[in-house]
Amino acid sequence: MFLWKLCMSDSKIIVALDYPTSDAALALAKQLDPLRCRLKIGKELFTRSGPAVVEALVYQGFDIFLDLKYHDIPHTVAKACSAAADLGVWMMNVHTLGGGAMMIAAREAIGKQSDRPLLIGVTLLTSMDQSTFEQIGLQGSLTDTVLRLAKLADDSGLDGVVCSAQEATQLRSQRGNDFQLITPGIRPANSEQGDQHRTMTPADAIAAGSSYLVIGRPITAAEDPMAALVSIEQSLL
Ligand code: C5P
Repeated sequence: MFLWKLCMSDSKIIVALDYPTSDAALALAKQLDPLRCRLKIGKELFTRSGPAVVEALVYQGFDIFLDLKYHDIPHTVAKACSAAADLGVWMMNVHTLGGGAMMIAAREAIGKQSDRPLLIGVTLLTSMDQSTFEQIGLQGSLTDTVLRLAKLADDSGLDGVVCSAQEATQLRSQRGNDFQLITPGIRPANSEQGDQHRTMTPADAIAAGSSYLVIGRPITAAEDPMAALVSIEQSLL
């Protein structure tokens, strides 16, 4: 339990801190309010800056989604999840392709207490198309596989999955209201698409059933990141 976490954010917006250095990440975080958003730390920032940047942002009051997509034998993933929980993160993820035993071990490792981190599964990476899917020996349709892996995640005790907002309606109807759907690929109307292809606006993604929106460049590349965040918040009212 982290005593400095006196106030909890209820924001649905997770800002992706895709930076190569902790100085750049901390400078962006300084412009944001921990009550108005949560932050995602991924592999680049974590590999370069390590647990120190996570602890610094947790100390500043931010809810942190540690996006390291653990995928290994059950024992190793359980130990990694336990270590992430010790950093005080709010959410972390594992790869559902690691299988049910791995997910169950991960879930057991983060404990039962009410302030435990949320444990989320990555189903199929959105970079995977039909040919890469078949290349690794998977068969059937990508969508059916995502739905099946989400069910396995749910049955293994995970709190939800990362998915495309385009899959959210189907997942929401199959998995019910308590299952968390974390959706990247969000673009406010009139913002740059960048390298994202199948995007949705924040309001449409929430209407489709998303629980949390992962948003990077529309906020981090804005001249005034807090103003960009407020404008997205207002679009959700
Ligand atoms: O800048 P942008 O809003 O495109 O950032 C989206 C974030 O979500 C990035 O950190 C990206 O790695 C992550 N992500 C994604 N698509 C996925 C899974 C994660 O864009 N399927």
